[in-house]
Amino acid sequence: MEILDGKKLAEEIKNELKSEVAEMLASGKKAPHLAAVLVGEDPASQVYVRSKVRSCEQVGFQSTLIREAATITEEALLALVDKLNQDPEIDGFIVQLPLPKHINEDKITLAINPEKDVDGFHPVNFGRMAQGLPCYLPATPYGIVEMIRRYNLPTQGKEVVVLGRSNIVGTPMSILLSRKGYPGDCTVTLCHSRTKDLTSHTRRADILVAAIGIPEMVTADMVKEGAVVIDVGINRVEDSGTEKGYRLAGDVDFDGVSPKASYITPVPGGVGAMTVVSLLVNTLKAAKGEIYPKKQA
Ligand code: GUN
Repeated sequence: MEILDGKKLAEEIKNELKSEVAEMLASGKKAPHLAAVLVGEDPASQVYVRSKVRSCEQVGFQSTLIREAATITEEALLALVDKLNQDPEIDGFIVQLPLPKHINEDKITLAINPEKDVDGFHPVNFGRMAQGLPCYLPATPYGIVEMIRRYNLPTQGKEVVVLGRSNIVGTPMSILLSRKGYPGDCTVTLCHSRTKDLTSHTRRADILVAAIGIPEMVTADMVKEGAVVIDVGINRVEDSGTEKGYRLAGDVDFDGVSPKASYITPVPGGVGAMTVVSLLVNTLKAAKGEIYPKKQA
């Protein structure tokens, strides 16, 4: 069994980004600039957004964190999105999800200019992804395909089972791995909460992607000998033995499953680390106008 070391790969990619920023600055360009909007006090969201801002600093990007109270109206948030859409100083921005219940997330996502949608959540980017056109790929699936690429894991003709059909992970993952070319050309089964006899599917998987949000749900009996196991879950489970009162657990029972796997991602230090750098890669692409050529001012 070999660990898919997301943390190490993420460091490698950050070093590449640092060099790119240095080149941009040397040629008189400005550093890429990411803005992140954080609404309310959700503890996990605060951790994620802080990590995104810190990662920007590490690679020399500019970052702007905009914090809003959980009571902000939908109208005011839409106005903020519009301001960021118009701001020539901002190359790309994200609105951290989930949002408070009184705000319609779809409405906010639709209001983001696809050219600045470095999360890749806008239907324009999603549609372009599905058709294999240039787009911002959603960060988690992008991080996973990059991990597969950098470990040179074979994908052609492989049986892939994706657990979870969310718009931001499971569904895009299933599309990316079934596309023509590398990494892709897989035969993909998308399983979810209504799937019957889940184990009969997962046991056939050469590559198993768990993105279901249930701690340690994937157990050894569900996994084929030699499978590549990719764990997207970052779940907080109560643990009175730790200082914080909780520990982080993936969707996979790591101790049980790892002896059967050929490759497996740890939690933390696996997919999560790759997700954050993928957002940075998208922001660099935005700054360079690689996906949507910059209009002349
Ligand atoms: N919430 C959980 N993951 C994400 C993400 O990648 N982007 C945003 N904006 N919100 C999230």
